[in-house]
Amino acid sequence: MKIAVVGAGYVGLVTGACFAELGNDVICVDVDKDKIGKLNSGIVPIYEPNLDELVAKNKKEKKLVFSSDLNGAIRKSEIIFICVGTPPKDNGEADLSYVENVALSIAEAMDSYKIIVEKSTVPVETGEKVAKSIKSYNAHKVDFDVVSNPEFLREGSAVNDFMHPDRIVIGCESEKAKDIMKKLYSSLKSPIIFTDIKSAEIIKHASNSFLAAKISFINAIANICELAGADIEKVAEGMGCDKRIGRVFLNAGIGYGGFCFPKDAEAFIRISEKFGYDFKLLKAVQEINNNQRKHFVRKIEKALWIVKGKTIGILGLAFKPNTDDMRFAPSVDIISELQKEGAKIKAYDPKAMEKAKGILKNVAYSSDPYDAAIDADALVVITEWDEFKKLDLKRIKPLMKHPLIIDGRNIYRPEDVKKEGFTYISIGRKEVI
Ligand code: UDX
Ligand code: UDX
Repeated sequence: MKIAVVGAGYVGLVTGACFAELGNDVICVDVDKDKIGKLNSGIVPIYEPNLDELVAKNKKEKKLVFSSDLNGAIRKSEIIFICVGTPPKDNGEADLSYVENVALSIAEAMDSYKIIVEKSTVPVETGEKVAKSIKSYNAHKVDFDVVSNPEFLREGSAVNDFMHPDRIVIGCESEKAKDIMKKLYSSLKSPIIFTDIKSAEIIKHASNSFLAAKISFINAIANICELAGADIEKVAEGMGCDKRIGRVFLNAGIGYGGFCFPKDAEAFIRISEKFGYDFKLLKAVQEINNNQRKHFVRKIEKALWIVKGKTIGILGLAFKPNTDDMRFAPSVDIISELQKEGAKIKAYDPKAMEKAKGILKNVAYSSDPYDAAIDADALVVITEWDEFKKLDLKRIKPLMKHPLIIDGRNIYRPEDVKKEGFTYISIGRKEVI
């Protein structure tokens, strides 16, 4: 099938490359000409495992084309995926101006039947508004259908998540659109759930909010464990054996970041309020998450006593491992707070340092985790990259001014760190001296 993907970001690029890999002809469009230029010269501007190879292969086979010509891409395609940003406004509502821009461009350009697919995460009722906008600006008076097809891609495993989804959700109101979307996804052996558009939009917000709630729940339990002297890792293990709970997304730490959970939960709270529902539960989820970062900074302050003038080695900057994405990353708040108190920050991240340099100033970026430990009064784990789990602690200890590790992601076993002579502070577990 002929597909246009509008927005070549973390989601649009993966969506375009995977649809091309499935045999479709894809035009990936972006308003950012620099991004399109890079993509046309073979540079993928984001880090996502397996994406580079997928883009290169399908570009070579001419199944995947990059362009800034939105009108041309619309005319040449039957299905148009909207994957543009839906960033939060100051009041927490989703900014849908980019979505509307694309909808109006489609209305102006389309000269034959089109399916317009909402892939970006949008509040319920957006599909209705997109259809209304297109209808009122439908220059060539052609037939079209709007479909909601939310993405459930996790950064760091987005290609795999696209090719092996737990489910595909299609919200549509016409049999014609349903048949075309069923054909499009037929090569993926995953259940397709057909709903109305509003239900599909809510499935996305509700799924992300539930996952965020699970994380805030285990972080709240971690705080209770710290006060009670219990071990959150044992508690999570005991809880997770219950199939109704499940062990995944029960990792206590400094909480969730990224361009989805924080903004989607906020947008869900706002749209619920618009309908007259006060989403107290989700507000509590967000509050617990925001407090988790503050709680972690207090742990560091308590361990160092005086922060001013101290050198802190930070391991990990990206909001999660296997991505370079710094959006809403806990590292930004934590490092900013420590700098306000006069700490000198050294930091290392395997992939995110280039993006971090544009956000975090006055940071000494290290060449590797051992470099970040040199002369450090404390080594602080913020992102649980695999390479940090395998560090040679025997080599780390003499490099530091003081053998202190403060672990925001519980990547070590306390007894292993204690054996190497460190003071070890983590989340939801007893301090080990
Ligand atoms: C986006 C949405 O923000 C998110 O809510 C949704 O779940 C998936 O799509 P992401 O891909 O991470 O997430 O956004 P981003 O990396 O910001 O990419 C958006 C791209 O759209 C950018 O490259 C931007 O240049 C482009 N864009 C934006 C357009 O091409 N046209 C526009 O009008 C606006
Ligand atoms: C999430 C959803 O998982 C995905 O389905 C949706 O499409 C987009 O948003 P993503 O944000 O890329 O994906 O990563 P995810 O693995 O969900 O982690 C989100 C945040 O939660 C990260 O900051 C991570 O560190 C944190 N997290 C995750 C925890 O703190 N504890 C956990 O147990 C799991």
